[in-house]
Amino acid sequence: MHHFQYHHGELWAEKVPVRRIVEEVGTPVYIYSSATLRRHFRVFEEAFADIPHLVCYSVKANSNLAVLKLLGDLGAGADVVSGGELFRALKAGLPASKIVFSGVGKTEIEMEEALQAGILMFNVESLGELETLARVAERLGRVAPFSIRVNPNVDPKTHPYISTGLRKNKFGLPEEMARSAYQWARKQPYLKAVGLDCHLGSQLTEIAPFVEALKRLKALYQDLCEEGIELQYLDLGGGLGIVYGEEEPPPPAEYAKALKKELQGLPCTLILEPGRVIAGNAGILVTRVLYVKHNPPLAEEKAGKNFVIVDAGMNDLIRPAFYQAYHRIAPVKEVPGEEVLLADVVGPICESGDFLARERPLPPVSPGDLLAVFSAGAYGFVMSSNYNSRPRAPEVLVDGGRFFVVRKRETYEDLVRLEEIPEI
Ligand code: LLP
Repeated sequence: MHHFQYHHGELWAEKVPVRRIVEEVGTPVYIYSSATLRRHFRVFEEAFADIPHLVCYSVKANSNLAVLKLLGDLGAGADVVSGGELFRALKAGLPASKIVFSGVGKTEIEMEEALQAGILMFNVESLGELETLARVAERLGRVAPFSIRVNPNVDPKTHPYISTGLRKNKFGLPEEMARSAYQWARKQPYLKAVGLDCHLGSQLTEIAPFVEALKRLKALYQDLCEEGIELQYLDLGGGLGIVYGEEEPPPPAEYAKALKKELQGLPCTLILEPGRVIAGNAGILVTRVLYVKHNPPLAEEKAGKNFVIVDAGMNDLIRPAFYQAYHRIAPVKEVPGEEVLLADVVGPICESGDFLARERPLPPVSPGDLLAVFSAGAYGFVMSSNYNSRPRAPEVLVDGGRFFVVRKRETYEDLVRLEEIPEI
């Protein structure tokens, strides 16, 4: 459910016509719906309401300060993976006591920052990291609360680039190593084991891999308990998928029901790190058609090739190019009739991999038309870049009948702000 709907043939974001935003802000532009963000967060949160839990929104999905503030106001904690994300979460007013810090490559400086802030826990991914954390904590004279991220070797059945819970992935520690890590940490005065963590991957559309991983985590949790290592938190990471096209991911309530069944009788607080399921369908990218190009077929071909060239490229939304991801694309002003054009929707970047869609049936479109790329609220703007020296798109947050530019469009000056020409 999201609040980007057509009324009288025009796409609206909540109570604002998308065209009106574009008239003021231009294209390409990311538009987020606060009602959708709120709804997604609440549905997720309420699904776990009857057990001790903490929802730590995964900041990497969409880290705009306004989005973080909105979710923080609803009670969200944060899952961060860098000093930068920690900085953002704190700046948006999220309490450090609800922040978990994941990631395989935390630096000493990042650890220091997180310790000083007083975060809930570090999700530690290697023995080397655990040793470093112990050292940094001792230096600061602060005890570091941690959990070990276990690699449960469960196949999440998702795109290989966003699958993380298999042995061959760089993430987490195999179970037997996790056990010895907890034992080692017991003797470290500046380390305190508080939880156990795992994350399988992203855009999972089945419940079974989550349940499988939770079973393994639970067994380990109980074993550790018997060995006298009593943990408070079980962190199952994020990963619940969303509808981009034909997918049928389980709704949060169903996902929660399956997890709660598995957790029965376990005296712990469940931590979840959803990103995509909160932000994904709460955002669209709006782009303008620049040109339509029809290449005639070669002698041996039946059909030619059509290109709809738009003003958003892979630097704005890299998911189609990087993961062959499908994003629904539709005109902001509905075109009556059939989808007659089979076309690649491509950007202005000088790369053949620069496409938003391939061989996509579209209604007839002309230069000047606006297209909405749906499900772009997660891993959209955050993965954008300045490639080809393109200023990054602005971000707009809609709230009912009002809208706010929550990040301005970058200028050419912004592009070179940190650069210097030396006198050589
Ligand atoms: N927790 C950890 C430790 C993670 O690594 C991730 C995502 C999440 C939580 C949130 O997962 P979510 O609920 O959003 O699935 N750029 C890719 C997705 C990469 C996800 C990386 N980790 C994409 O555009 O599909």
